[in-house]
Amino acid sequence: MLLRIGKNCNKFYQHCNKNNIRCATSFVASEPKEPAVKQLNGDVHQKMLKDLSNIQYTGGVQFFADLEKSAGNYLVDADGNVFLDCYMQIASLPLGYNYPSLFNVFKDDTKMKMLVNRTALGVYPPTNWGNYLSDILMSVAPPGLKNVQTHMCGTCANEQAFKHIFISHAREKRAGSNFSEQELTSSMLNKPPGSPNVAILSFKGGFHGRTTGSLSATRTKPIHKIDFPLFSHWPAIPFPNYKYPLEENVRENKAEDQKCLEIFEDTIEQQKRAGYPVAGVIVEPIQSEGGDHEASPEFFQNLQALCKKLGVSFLVDEVQTGCGATGKMWCHEWFNLPSPPDIVTFSKKMQFGGYYHTVEMQPDKPFRMFNTWMGDPARLFLLEEVLNVMKTKDLIENVRKVGDRTLKGLVEITKEFPNLIHSPRGRGLLLAITAKDTKLRDAILGKMKAKGILMGGCGDEAIRLRPALIFQDHHSDIFLDRLREVLHDLK
Ligand SMILES: Cc1ncc(COP(=O)(O)O)c(C=O)c1O
Repeated sequence: MLLRIGKNCNKFYQHCNKNNIRCATSFVASEPKEPAVKQLNGDVHQKMLKDLSNIQYTGGVQFFADLEKSAGNYLVDADGNVFLDCYMQIASLPLGYNYPSLFNVFKDDTKMKMLVNRTALGVYPPTNWGNYLSDILMSVAPPGLKNVQTHMCGTCANEQAFKHIFISHAREKRAGSNFSEQELTSSMLNKPPGSPNVAILSFKGGFHGRTTGSLSATRTKPIHKIDFPLFSHWPAIPFPNYKYPLEENVRENKAEDQKCLEIFEDTIEQQKRAGYPVAGVIVEPIQSEGGDHEASPEFFQNLQALCKKLGVSFLVDEVQTGCGATGKMWCHEWFNLPSPPDIVTFSKKMQFGGYYHTVEMQPDKPFRMFNTWMGDPARLFLLEEVLNVMKTKDLIENVRKVGDRTLKGLVEITKEFPNLIHSPRGRGLLLAITAKDTKLRDAILGKMKAKGILMGGCGDEAIRLRPALIFQDHHSDIFLDRLREVLHDLK
């Protein structure tokens, strides 16, 4: 049974869910009913691209978003094409476009003042800043983490988190003594001991950002790194590369975990012997930009245990996986870790960058983890409303249900087109499939776009879904139907 309704959609949606009724009510009632593409990159696009190109480099621009017309899960472009957006501004819009209650946030005078008068949070935090952090950011802290630091974007969250790790590593080594004269003078020359040869270990295929430290840890594509001087002594090791379906490849995938963990332990020892000790490891719970590679809870549990044994800080990068996308607030919650990670970084759906960390990681001197703004109070209030909507509309549960259903759909489609796609995978709505080769992957993405579905590529051959948390069964149906049509055409 398929029902449509305009008002009281959430209540009605929950009723339908409970009673297993298929319901075409969207969380944003004003969103279009389906995609509609007239002409990709039409006249309006061409004119805008030409104007922008006179001022900026536009090599990456796909089309211009019409934010007046976009609503909910649908993005409308400058030529009036309507797309079901399963990519949501590179996984960064939690509630889709123009979610109505977000417009109320700055009707509150106190919040408006935060928007108008941006303070330098590290030196002049506004009154009640502690209460705001505690009520908003700490209300969704990963279990066991009691401190938070706000920053700007995902890249700078990781960059600053590395500094946090290096400070705590050096503090432990100094065992209570102050900086030596030699450390102070050598630091001004970027040389040891003040500027020590410590390292962050990352995984091949990992993406962690684009400033010098975070880019040194990034291991996705040469185009991200080429021409930049980076830390050549920072090691990168393989991330597990699983065979699918998981339930039919348990033994092989376990061996893959074991192989990567052995390399990890060996690399930490080798780095120590070579005089480049590893202070921290950074890892994504699902390696996203690199190709949506998953690893098992056991892999992460063992990795954390090895970090503890070897004295290495354990940083989980949840920039892309956090804020409900996987059907839990934080993806690493799926792993049942016996204790929290030392640091968890976030950005994207969380509206601004930052990280949670353990009490032990707290720095003990000012102006070391610092920049002028150190976050954005105005965005914190948008996040407050996002979290409020997530709670009242039970969006994490929605993600789990719609995600399971979509994954089942992907499994079925994979069986129908085994020569074209394989390895359907993921958690919640952070889902992916892999195409037979890069050319085919790009053709699928292009044809899906022409049918009004936006998705993302990742790694060499993978296709990823990153819809908003308000993606529902009827959106999933449209997506799966169009994917089937596209694969049928490409067969
Ligand atoms: C896992 C991960 N970490 C860090 C970043 C960098 O975030 P930003 O682009 O906000 O600097 C990204 C961006 O895609 C990411 O996916």
